[in-house]
Amino acid sequence: MPVITLANENKTVEVPVGANLRHALLNNGVSPYIGIAKLINCRGFELCGTCRVEVVDGKGASARKDDEEQTLISSTPFYARKIEKNIRLACQVSVTGDLMVKTYPKVELDRERTKEMMIKSGISAVFLLLFGLFFLAMFLDMIKII
Ligand code: FES
Repeated sequence: MPVITLANENKTVEVPVGANLRHALLNNGVSPYIGIAKLINCRGFELCGTCRVEVVDGKGASARKDDEEQTLISSTPFYARKIEKNIRLACQVSVTGDLMVKTYPKVELDRERTKEMMIKSGISAVFLLLFGLFFLAMFLDMIKII
């Protein structure tokens, strides 16, 4: 059975081959979440990006997929993070062999990409507001006619 070494917790955990890393951590009293994310997270559906861990030795981990990478970079339309290759979502890692993991890795904000995303979000918000006002005006006009 593969052994997961938790570097920050100074702990080792034995799991069956194919075990989900998030479940393995939680079942052994180690939360991959920080702060409010302990209560508010997507429960392993690859949506929130809050179960980030650093896989120090990745030989015993399944490969990172594109959609996982996308969630790691940004789980909202408002900001993006700089993500190293060994940062993973615990909920998307299948343990295939021995693994060393660090919980709570530090990640940086990708300022350039965040700026672009904020501009796009702002433009989208303005268009939505204009459409909303247009349909409100049409609705009010229609009520007046009836
Ligand atoms: S628990 Fe939300 S992305 Fe892993």
